[in-house]
Amino acid sequence: MTDYDLINSQVAALLDGEPDALAAASNFVALLYNALEDVNWLGIYVLRGEELVLGPFQGKPACVHIVLGDGVCGAAASSLETQRVEDVHAFPGHIVCDADSRSELVVPLIVNDELVGVLDIDSPSLARFSEADQLGIETTCRTFCELQKHREAFI
Ligand code: SME
Repeated sequence: MTDYDLINSQVAALLDGEPDALAAASNFVALLYNALEDVNWLGIYVLRGEELVLGPFQGKPACVHIVLGDGVCGAAASSLETQRVEDVHAFPGHIVCDADSRSELVVPLIVNDELVGVLDIDSPSLARFSEADQLGIETTCRTFCELQKHREAFI
């Protein structure tokens, strides 16, 4: 079982005091990607106006622009709610970036009460993400967002 308490403390230790938002986000993504098993893509889409734009990630090259409301990422961004999708083929409007992806977890990133982007995690296994995974990753995202709150802009 994944030790989310450990991951959370590693995120806090790695990012605390880092003044550069891009560097912090890049290391956040790299740390999580390497800490999680059975994941083929993990990254941040940044909110820019009315769309999400590809930010730091690990995995294969991915689609760059996602309109709010489109796909799993757009649904998370427009609803401000985590989307935990057991089978991406059953999700209406799912956007295929890596054909290996079968399940997906997307967490809205909220800094100072404003949506700044989403964290997107894909797995090649069906129903890879449990409720415990969702809670653990949401906690880690909150830690990441808390460390961004003194910045004037996100990435
Ligand atoms: N599948 C996502 C698109 C992003 S990729 O998975 C990296 C979606 O439906 O929003």
